Amino acid sequence: MKKIITVDGPAGSGKEKISRYIARKYKLYHLDSGLLYRRLAYELEKKNIKTFQVSKIKSAIKNFKKLSLRKAKMLRKEQIGKAASEIAKIDFVRDFINSQQRLATKAPNKKKGFIIDGRDIGSVVFKKASLKLYIDVDVNIRAKRRYKQLIDNGEKSIYLNILKDIKLRDKTDKTRINSPLVVPKGAKIIDNSHTFKNTIAQIRNIIEGIN
Ligand code: C5P
Repeated sequence: MKKIITVDGPAGSGKEKISRYIARKYKLYHLDSGLLYRRLAYELEKKNIKTFQVSKIKSAIKNFKKLSLRKAKMLRKEQIGKAASEIAKIDFVRDFINSQQRLATKAPNKKKGFIIDGRDIGSVVFKKASLKLYIDVDVNIRAKRRYKQLIDNGEKSIYLNILKDIKLRDKTDKTRINSPLVVPKGAKIIDNSHTFKNTIAQIRNIIEGIN
């Protein structure tokens, strides 16, 4: 079986950037599971289905065969992230996204294995992963980074609103009944509060230690 590395952590913890780096360095295929939740939220929004219209979501899902894994700027919008977090509470939505992830990891490719990031990857989806990482960053640091990113992109934003949104997302993700965000059993905790170089050094020590 190919190597599977899981990367979990809260919103804005830098999981995606870290996973992309590890994928490039160790020739792994990278799957961002949050992107699938965001893609589904976007497709539902296009059909004018609201996140609380559970039976409409159920019927719509039956018609989706394979969700696109294409990265797109519109999927990164705050409103899509919030909607993704809302639909992610629904059992059958999680089952659907999990089956999409399994499909993606079964597709033949020349890579040495997979790195998958999300909220429940090491705790639920790939419990038997070769390595589990959990990325941790204080909520104030996450909000400051997000604020800077928006200002650098020329978008207007208010720091306290961003902090509030991130805290709300943490609460939704950590307290939901189905597959809440937890530190998976056996996961190595990575502190991503400092520089990217520092984070990468922590990860390389772990990966190269087990190889
Ligand atoms: O990681 P990202 O911010 O793109 O994820 C968007 C939302 O999708 C998260 O807030 C979370 O509620 C949900 N999600 C999840 N399980 C995953 C990945 C994402 O519930 N494995």
